[in-house]
Amino acid sequence: MRTITLLQPRRLTIGSGCLQECESYLEALAPQHLHIITSPSQSSVASQLAAKLARANGIVSIDDSIASEPTIQMFASALTRAQGATCIVGLGGGSPLDVAKLVAALLRSDQNVEDCFGIGLLRGRTCHLVCVPTTSGTGSEVSPNAILLDEAAKLKKGVVSPHLVPDATFIDPSLTLTMSPAVTASTGLDALTHCIEAYTNKFAHPVIDVYATQGIILCGRHLVRAVTHPEDLTAREGMSLASFYGGLCLGPVNTAAVHALAYPLGGEFHLAHGLSNAILLPHVFRFNAEASPVRHAAVALALGAKPADSYLETAYAGADKLQQMATSCGITSDLRQHGISPSAIPNMARSAMTVTRLLKNNPREITEADCIDIYARCFDSI
Ligand SMILES: [Fe+2]
Repeated sequence: MRTITLLQPRRLTIGSGCLQECESYLEALAPQHLHIITSPSQSSVASQLAAKLARANGIVSIDDSIASEPTIQMFASALTRAQGATCIVGLGGGSPLDVAKLVAALLRSDQNVEDCFGIGLLRGRTCHLVCVPTTSGTGSEVSPNAILLDEAAKLKKGVVSPHLVPDATFIDPSLTLTMSPAVTASTGLDALTHCIEAYTNKFAHPVIDVYATQGIILCGRHLVRAVTHPEDLTAREGMSLASFYGGLCLGPVNTAAVHALAYPLGGEFHLAHGLSNAILLPHVFRFNAEASPVRHAAVALALGAKPADSYLETAYAGADKLQQMATSCGITSDLRQHGISPSAIPNMARSAMTVTRLLKNNPREITEADCIDIYARCFDSI
C-alpha cells in the first residue's frame, strides 16, 4: 500500500448550531487581534460574531470585501488590511476561506504569494487560523489548498501546503440555509467532483476511498433536494458532510482532469469554479470510464444509477446520471450560454494542458486533442 499522510485541523467541530462553539473557542483563545475575512454576503454573520467576541478579545476587525474568484491583487489588498492580526478567521465560501488561509500564512512572512504557487513551497504560517464555511462544496475548510486567479496569465493558480490546514474548523450546516439555489448547485457539484476525482484517481488510496465514497453517496441523496428545498436542514447537513469529505480528499489524493479543464473557464471567462466543474464533470467522467470501468461503475451505483450489462455500460449510465443531476440543479451545461464561443476551444485546451499537477492524477492519459474534444462536447452545437 502506498504511504499517505493525512493532515487535518487539530480541532474539528461539526453540527448544526456549532457556530456558538466557535465563539467559545475564540473567547478562550483570546487573541490580541482577531481579524475576520469574509464576503459581502456574510457581513452580518461576521458582525454578530465580532460583537460577541469584542468583550473577550483585544482588537476585532472585519474585512468583508472578498468576492468570488479572488485574484492575486485582491489577496494583496486583503493582506494589507490584516496588518497586526494574530488570529485570522475565514468565514464564508471557498473564496474568503482561501484568502484567509493565505493571509494567515503570509502575514509577516518574507515570502510572496507568487513564490508559493505549487506544492510544498510555503515555508510556514505566522497566525492562528480558524475556518467557518457557509457554503458546502469547496472543502477549503479542511484542505491544504488555496486558489487565486493570476489575471496576467488568465489562469487559476494553487498553493498546496500543510501550513494551509486550519488550526480549527467549525462546520455549522445551519449557516448554509441562506445559500441561493444556484450557489448550492455549483458548490455541491464541486464537492461531488472532489469525491469522484479522488475515487477514480490514478493515485487513489483505500483510506481516501472511504471519504470519497461517502461523499458521493451523500451528494446522490441530498444535492438536488438541497437545491430545490433550500430550507431542508437534513439535505443541508448531508451536503455539508459531503463538502467535508471532499475536502479531506483534496490533500492526500487531490483532483484530476475535471479541475484542470475547469481552470481556463474560470481564468479566462470568470465562470465560477463549481459551475465550470459541473459542466465538465459528465464529459470527463465518460472519457475516463474506459480507463477504470470498475471504479467508474461503483461511482455510478453510489449515485443511484441502475446497473447495466457491463461495468463500462454502468459507468456510462453514471455519466448520464451526472448530467441529469446537473440539469435538475438548474445548471445550463452549454458553454455558449455562459458567453464562451467554440472558437475559444484551442486556447482553452492549450491552457488546460499546463495544469500538469492535476492532469498527472487523471486515470486516463489526456492529450491536447482529447481536451479539444471534451470542450467541444460542452457546446450543444458547434
Ligand atoms: Fe474544486
